[in-house]
Amino acid sequence: MSQHKRVALISGAGRGIGAATAREFGRRGYHVIVNYRSDADAAKDVVAAIEEEGGSAQAARADVCDGGQVAALIEGVREEHGRIDVLVCNANTVNPSFLPLAELSWEAFAEKVNGELSGVFFLSQRILAIMREQRAGRIVFISSTAADSIGMAVAHSTAKAALNTFSRHVAGIGAQYGVTVNTLAFGAVRTESSGQGFGEGLRTYLTDRSVIDRLVEPEDAARAVALLADDDFGAVAGQLIRLDGGYDILDQQLHPLTTHFG
Ligand SMILES: NC(=O)c1ccc[n+]([C@@H]2O[C@H](COP(=O)([O-])OP(=O)(O)OC[C@H]3O[C@@H](n4cnc5c(N)ncnc54)[C@H](OP(=O)(O)O)[C@@H]3O)[C@@H](O)[C@H]2O)c1
Repeated sequence: MSQHKRVALISGAGRGIGAATAREFGRRGYHVIVNYRSDADAAKDVVAAIEEEGGSAQAARADVCDGGQVAALIEGVREEHGRIDVLVCNANTVNPSFLPLAELSWEAFAEKVNGELSGVFFLSQRILAIMREQRAGRIVFISSTAADSIGMAVAHSTAKAALNTFSRHVAGIGAQYGVTVNTLAFGAVRTESSGQGFGEGLRTYLTDRSVIDRLVEPEDAARAVALLADDDFGAVAGQLIRLDGGYDILDQQLHPLTTHFG
């Protein structure tokens, strides 16, 4: 059945934004490759949820920071399905440390930057070769608005800023043979991992600064990823798009100085 469907590979799709994205692609008629690193049960649950909604999917274990495992993953998918139409580089390979620079070890800093970049490097290199042969494809990188913020998570911020630059190189290469590559930078999204850090005060602060009057959910993020993969958006290439519920503009608007003069 999957031979007639477009194939979407989502890295780190066992939970959070990746799981919601996998389900969104399932609803849109793709055969979904639900990549995970360690939690096979979570990935199986995502596959089951997609199948319950009438879609098709399979779980695929691979550590995306390991070049050999990525090669095996991609070759396996191509052998079975003949093509890969969409790659979403989503895996949250290393949880960010929120320690200030003075307390952060070099090892923790390097682990975050290395994890973020190796997790997209191997996938991009392999998939570009396939999409070049296909003369078609879509790649979406998942970044963070933290790339532009200072003082909060120096390693995470630096890693995502590097990802943003890397993604533009991939976009430039892909554009030469009809592959569109875009990057979505999310603000706070209420996933299981980030949600644990959302106390009542922060929740209210973020909701007050949200154009939708609520926190951004993984499903909001997932729909945006799917739109960038859609044929209707084929003219959008090499872009970095923020999805933060309006936080960027509302935070400035609600700043005490702005309200004073406003
Ligand atoms: N949540 C937010 O507020 C937020 C905001 C901005 C940007 N983002 C970005 O959005 C993306 C997803 O975040 P999330 O919060 O949804 O993540 P999450 O809930 O922490 O989930 C991470 C997923 O990535 C998988 N994973 C981790 N390392 C992997 C590896 N080396 N190879 C393959 N899979 C791996 C995990 O699989 P296993 O459990 O099997 O190990 C898990 O399914 C990340 O790139 C993150 O930086 C998130």
